[in-house]
Amino acid sequence: VSVSIHTPFTSSGLVTRSNAVQVPSVAAAFSSAPCVAATASLPRTSKQDDSSDKVTVLAIRDRFPIFDQMPDTVFLDNASTTHKPDSVIQVFDTFYRRDCSNAGRAIYPSSMRAAQKIEKARHDVARLIGAHAREIAFTSGATDSFNTVAWSWGLTNLKDGDEILFCPQDHRSAILPWQNLQSVLAGMGKNITLVPFGIHAVGDYDFRDLRNALTERTRVIALSHIHHVFGVDMEISDIRKIVGADVVMSLDASQSVGHIKVDVNELDVRQAS
Ligand SMILES: Cc1ncc(COP(=O)(O)O)c(C=O)c1O
Repeated sequence: VSVSIHTPFTSSGLVTRSNAVQVPSVAAAFSSAPCVAATASLPRTSKQDDSSDKVTVLAIRDRFPIFDQMPDTVFLDNASTTHKPDSVIQVFDTFYRRDCSNAGRAIYPSSMRAAQKIEKARHDVARLIGAHAREIAFTSGATDSFNTVAWSWGLTNLKDGDEILFCPQDHRSAILPWQNLQSVLAGMGKNITLVPFGIHAVGDYDFRDLRNALTERTRVIALSHIHHVFGVDMEISDIRKIVGADVVMSLDASQSVGHIKVDVNELDVRQAS
């Protein structure tokens, strides 16, 4: 399992199949449009102090320096790259002021500190997702992770005639690396096919379509764990039962790790980004 955690703080709503709402027009808009920062200016009222829940929300909000600059803003684009609380900013600030060095390659103090911090982070991330520390590879983000998997595992393991299942409504960064690899492999005389499967209007994968797309040549299935537009948990364990043990699952966990408990062993995925 290779993993990148691409945003330390994401908070999109989680929608299960039972409470999913029908939002096809939103999906259509988002599938082709680049994501834009969504902010709404709402007045803060004295009523916000009435309940302890709201006080807690305000206390959390106070940890985010962005609201010092924009006190009347509600920031709604948290499921994408979002603002960081002061505790996170502090860690990065200390790192760049004190410890920024060539980690793991030298024995002078700041290099040793940097290496220790990176290794601690590797163990923390591994524990968070039920992986072993040696399975964690840090990258610059989810797209970089997908590319790494495609250009390392994919380039060496895919054979002429192999098929990759994917859903065209998933995030492009989980699809494009496989499409790019397909063109490069074609130039090397290996023809692999990308086979699409559908998604329902409420945002869960169409399992019947997925079953129909599956063949004995299916080597890889690219999946979202929680969909970035619909917020639906895609029931990865059920998909494992459908595709069988041999198909390599490449999972986009960008929107799930921050919201639900993720255990890569339970999910039985080869690679999670
Ligand atoms: C579901 C999903 N996958 C992939 C990405 C791409 O992530 P990155 O910007 O880390 O490459 C995003 C970005 O928001 C995302 O929401």
